[in-house]
Amino acid sequence: MEEQKKIWLDGKFIDWKEAKIHILTHTLHYGGGAFEGIRAYQTEKGTSVFRLKEHIERFFYSASFLEMRIPFLKEEIERVILETIKINELKECYIRPIAFFGYGKMGLNPIGAPVNLAIAVWPWGAYLDEEKPVAVKVSKYRRLDPQSIVSEAKICGYYINSIFATLEAQKAGFNEALLLDSQGYVAEGPGENIFLVKKGELFTPSLGSILPGITRDSVIKIAKDLGIEVKEKKITLEELKLADEVFFTGTAAEVCPIGKIDETLINQGKIGKVTEKIKNFYQRVVHGREEKYLNWLTLV
Ligand SMILES: Cc1ncc(COP(=O)(O)O)c(C=O)c1O
Repeated sequence: MEEQKKIWLDGKFIDWKEAKIHILTHTLHYGGGAFEGIRAYQTEKGTSVFRLKEHIERFFYSASFLEMRIPFLKEEIERVILETIKINELKECYIRPIAFFGYGKMGLNPIGAPVNLAIAVWPWGAYLDEEKPVAVKVSKYRRLDPQSIVSEAKICGYYINSIFATLEAQKAGFNEALLLDSQGYVAEGPGENIFLVKKGELFTPSLGSILPGITRDSVIKIAKDLGIEVKEKKITLEELKLADEVFFTGTAAEVCPIGKIDETLINQGKIGKVTEKIKNFYQRVVHGREEKYLNWLTLV
């Protein structure tokens, strides 16, 4: 990770190196925090944040299930994100807001612990930094069941499920994992949603046990505008392996073609036509080159 100049913490910009927390920070022990992953891209008009409002909405929504009251307004956080990018003089970056229960109380009930809020930004290229479509291993771990957690929330502690799956996949020589839900249907990657292409149509797992990704939502809208039919449904692993094309979506991973699932090659390991079309169009949208989607961008 490339060190930057400043991190915003609880209302102030502090030096990157000084952004430290107490060992007895509640969230460090129990995972009860909410966070977001957002990207800013260079556009003709200047650096712009992609779907900032939607990310901040989800941030507050996630925190609400922890009964965590973020001590800033949504608009203030949006403004601080833009300022943090400016102060760090970044043209393109990844943005990480995190709200966590701080120091002062132990025991599982976090109520009464202070709520801290930090915003960090840094340059982050392609998350799955591969020149060719990625190889994915179906994990032995299942996605956390919606009867055990709130699937729609992006909560720190959930990511232990993603960490287990990632370790397993990468240890076996794959780029990324794929998790099934507790019923055995295709769910999502450790930090990505998934789509398949069959006979020119797009399919993606319906909401329920997955994070409702903002990139997933963007891709569904973009595909419909491109005249591609999109269906949300339960998808079996067999259907996925028999697909013409498969790709991941996510803020970090963007639109990322999948060339192999376990030992099954997808589209002979090459990026497919539909995936390529959506991937390229997504890049045009985030870089402000598509008039129709300019309202998804907030200029820094
Ligand atoms: C588990 C999980 N699924 C899907 C996604 C993709 O979501 P988004 O497109 O909002 O980045 C993410 C990333 O936040 C994630 O962590």
